[in-house]
Amino acid sequence: MSPSADFPTALKTVAARVETTFREILSDQPKSQVTDAMAHAVVGGKGLRGFLVVESARLFDLPEPGACRAGAAIECIHAYSLVHDDLPAMDDDDLRRGQPTVHVKWDEATAVLVGDALQSLGFEILSDPATHPDAEVRSALVITLARAAGAAGMVLGQARDIAAETAAMPLTLDEITALQAQKTGALIQWAALAGPRMAGADSGPLRVYSEALGLAFQIADDLLDVEGDEARTGKRVGKDAGAGKATFVSHLGVDGARARARELVDKAEAALAPYGNRGESLAAAARFVVARDR
Ligand code: IPE
Ligand code: IPE
Ligand code: MG
Ligand code: MG
Ligand code: MG
Repeated sequence: MSPSADFPTALKTVAARVETTFREILSDQPKSQVTDAMAHAVVGGKGLRGFLVVESARLFDLPEPGACRAGAAIECIHAYSLVHDDLPAMDDDDLRRGQPTVHVKWDEATAVLVGDALQSLGFEILSDPATHPDAEVRSALVITLARAAGAAGMVLGQARDIAAETAAMPLTLDEITALQAQKTGALIQWAALAGPRMAGADSGPLRVYSEALGLAFQIADDLLDVEGDEARTGKRVGKDAGAGKATFVSHLGVDGARARARELVDKAEAALAPYGNRGESLAAAARFVVARDR
């Protein structure tokens, strides 16, 4: 069965391998309320970023255990970003992946600490020789993820997302595009470039692919906030407009945003041409990103 024949199954299979890797790594930490809450935060997502790591590594015939570890690392950073995103000081959400958010199930202090600990664990995983035998490659994984997650990447995007809620003027389309590329695009791009980075190979085609994919992904997330079903998304919907979020939907409307997402998926797929049939699972991931209902 080719991965595109049943992409949701392929995604679930890879996500389960990454999740198993994460659980093994977490079991080396002393068990506590924080590690219980870390597991709660990491499991149950779609696992798209881990999938992108594993599939981009497969393009370069890299060993899967190391790729699953790098996949677990990005899922830790992603989960940390969500735990903090859901805090009352940010989006104030009580539901995530169909479960109570960490600050609701435990408390705010635990949610802050879980985010901190997941961030540390993500970098610990990448720094471990079990992830890649070459110290220079490990260092490249760490520095690029630090940049993608930090004050030039996800954190900057999150800060701009919050600032936009109370901005005097609505953001321009260029400003929204830059915000989304930082907030969501940076981690997705890191995931898709992990394969060539671990292989010491050219990342050109995957750079174009992942830039388009990251934007399409956030547009789909914004559309799900308008049109999605809470029972499927596992998170509250209909909140962005009331909060004054700057999104493609707020700027282009639902139809305009959907058309833009489709163009971006076509661009992402086209960028995979140099990989021929081997790029099919990543192409299927791009199609899934805009067709998804969760
Ligand atoms: C949600 O990401 C947050 C955004 C960056 C839009 P996902 O939709 O990948 O969330 P999970 O991991 O599947 O829950
Ligand atoms: C969050 O974007 C992106 C992160 C960096 C966590 P959203 O705030 O739109 O994500 P959801 O809708 O809560 O998943
Ligand atoms: Mg948010
Ligand atoms: Mg949110
Ligand atoms: Mg959202």
